[in-house]
Amino acid sequence: MAGIQTAAWFRVRQWIRFYRRAVTRYQIHSPFVFQLTEAVLEDRRFYYAFGEIEWIRRELLKSDAEADVVDFGTGKNRRRRVSEITRNAASAASQGRMLFRLADWLAPRTILELGTSVGIGTMYLRAGNLLATMISLEGCPQTISVARNNLNTLGLDRRTELVDGPFEETLIPALEKLVSPDMVYIDGNHRKDPALQYFETCLQYANNSTVFIFDDIHWSRDMEDAWSVIKNHPRVTLTVDLYDISLAFVNPAFREKQHFSIVPARWKFWLLM
Ligand SMILES: C[S@@+](CC[C@H](N)C(=O)[O-])C[C@H]1O[C@@H](n2cnc3c(N)ncnc32)[C@H](O)[C@@H]1O
Repeated sequence: MAGIQTAAWFRVRQWIRFYRRAVTRYQIHSPFVFQLTEAVLEDRRFYYAFGEIEWIRRELLKSDAEADVVDFGTGKNRRRRVSEITRNAASAASQGRMLFRLADWLAPRTILELGTSVGIGTMYLRAGNLLATMISLEGCPQTISVARNNLNTLGLDRRTELVDGPFEETLIPALEKLVSPDMVYIDGNHRKDPALQYFETCLQYANNSTVFIFDDIHWSRDMEDAWSVIKNHPRVTLTVDLYDISLAFVNPAFREKQHFSIVPARWKFWLLM
């Protein structure tokens, strides 16, 4: 109980710290970051795909089905309800909408996701860019079959390959297949060393347009530490922290390394004045 309270308190503190340092579109001078903010954070249009994916989420949350879930921390299998997996592991709707807009605005030709779970993030990315070739990796066979079913239901399975197996075995073959991913969503293992290891492996295949998306970097001290290492990495030239997701760019055209934490303008409305 004390551990849960400490973790919850840590997240509240991190949120306050993030909010205090965050800027809005009115303080951004970089044209690229300004346009990214407009497209990903300030665009409030509702696409029909959002409704469809959230309908799938509601069905999963109502489901009585169970699955044997592989716990990658302990290596043991646990019987869990699909509803519980969806509640605990799937991207939130607000985060999904950001993934959709990123995939739409950046128009990557290839997308790699580490950690499919029941496919909520996969569907948002896929729906945001129907032309990209996408591979999503998931080590739990029963969870990936739920994701497969969801993508088929919405007709989002074309050009999307869901690969079953531990990242340690599937990551390099997926990178070789994609040749060089334009977008990498790292949402598999929220611990510092594995997250950094996946980042370094993907970095070897990155091109100048590659964007790395990290989930929940404010979730724990471990992930915050991983984010600091990523920010200071010599190949990273720009980072944009949107709290729920955080982006690292490796394009050498961003000559001066910059780090942004950004909130929607309405969250700091007085900065308009
Ligand atoms: C947070 S969930 C992914 C959520 C999903 N990306 C979304 O946006 O809805 C993380 C998933 O990564 C999988 N995972 C964690 N470590 C893994 C590993 N080493 N190999 C394969 N899968 C792993 C877990 O089984 C889990 O389903």
